[in-house]
Amino acid sequence: MLWLAVGFCALCGVRGQDCIEPGKVWHDAEGRVINAHGGGVLWHEGRYYWYGENRPARGFTTEVGVGVYSSSDLVHWTDEGVALAVSGRQGSPIERGCIMERPKVVYNARTCKFVMLFHLELKGQGYAAARVGFAEADSPVGPFRFIRSLRPNAGKWPSDFSRRDIRRAKRLKESDYTEWWTPEWRKAVADGLLLARDVPGGQMSRDMTVFVDDDGKAYHIFSAEENLTLNIAELTDDYLDYTGRFVRVAPGGQNEAPTIFKRGGTYWMITSGCTGWAPNEARMFRASSVWGPWEQLPSPFAGEGAEKSFHSQGTYVLKVEGVEDGFIFMADRWNPESLQDSRYVWLPIVFGADGVPVLRWLDSWSPAGRFSGF
Ligand code: DGJ
Repeated sequence: MLWLAVGFCALCGVRGQDCIEPGKVWHDAEGRVINAHGGGVLWHEGRYYWYGENRPARGFTTEVGVGVYSSSDLVHWTDEGVALAVSGRQGSPIERGCIMERPKVVYNARTCKFVMLFHLELKGQGYAAARVGFAEADSPVGPFRFIRSLRPNAGKWPSDFSRRDIRRAKRLKESDYTEWWTPEWRKAVADGLLLARDVPGGQMSRDMTVFVDDDGKAYHIFSAEENLTLNIAELTDDYLDYTGRFVRVAPGGQNEAPTIFKRGGTYWMITSGCTGWAPNEARMFRASSVWGPWEQLPSPFAGEGAEKSFHSQGTYVLKVEGVEDGFIFMADRWNPESLQDSRYVWLPIVFGADGVPVLRWLDSWSPAGRFSGF
């Protein structure tokens, strides 16, 4: 950051340390580097809570758990410790050495509980388990109690599948499509080749987010079918299970890192492609109902570096409380050499005259300066 003599940031004009610097090291109130990757933010009773993956300096497994920080201004964050800790018990689904990714916490006004969903991979199995974990707490800073993990919607078919669609999907066999990306394979995936394979045991569930709509209904949005297809699945009223109602979005489109928000009557989803830890060009979708149809639009990233999403991958869209059109796109700039040393890229979403979201690079910006009424 460039400093003027009076202590104002020369880049965004805001006082001292009151700005967010995308891609730079972000320290907490104690001066330690914030360790909350693949995260999400919850606003509750006047405070923001940032939950994220606590990552070790080396390696890809989870050794600590999900961390939580709190803030009143979205710039200065206090380390509130470990919200959900790994278990020391051998055989526990969240045994130390598992992989916990992309935790998202929502508040359930009916049960007065904080509910965490996260992507869970079982210890020693790489990314094969593809499960979602559920945890619950009485306080936003935890401790969260692990409830269970599963693959969503076992025995269920998408809500928009007719009987004929189901019959057709059941006839598809993976062994008939040994080569991926052929026109026949693409059609079979769209028709439910992998969906049908996974109906008995539940859909695979990797990169994910959670969205609570204005009516209090919550949805788990995740990469299913070997990361080829997104699912939007409705949660039960306590947010701890599935109602069985779900739809697929962009079958075969290879979308990861789903983020979602609603502005006016329009739902927007910003996702990434599927290139491991390496950045790629984001995608965007729009719908007037969470159930679709979802229309695909170009990436919202604009300007230099847009083709690699400013070297980042989305994780959450944070609605700034009480600010009309106050939305922050949260992303990770992954460093697979040391995931702990990955950076955060937070940018305000701006809206074009046509109402379409746009993300432009800023070296430095301040929520207080950007959002009037914040
Ligand atoms: C990309 C995903 O978005 C990340 O969360 C992580 O699962 C990596 N893939 C693992 O390669």
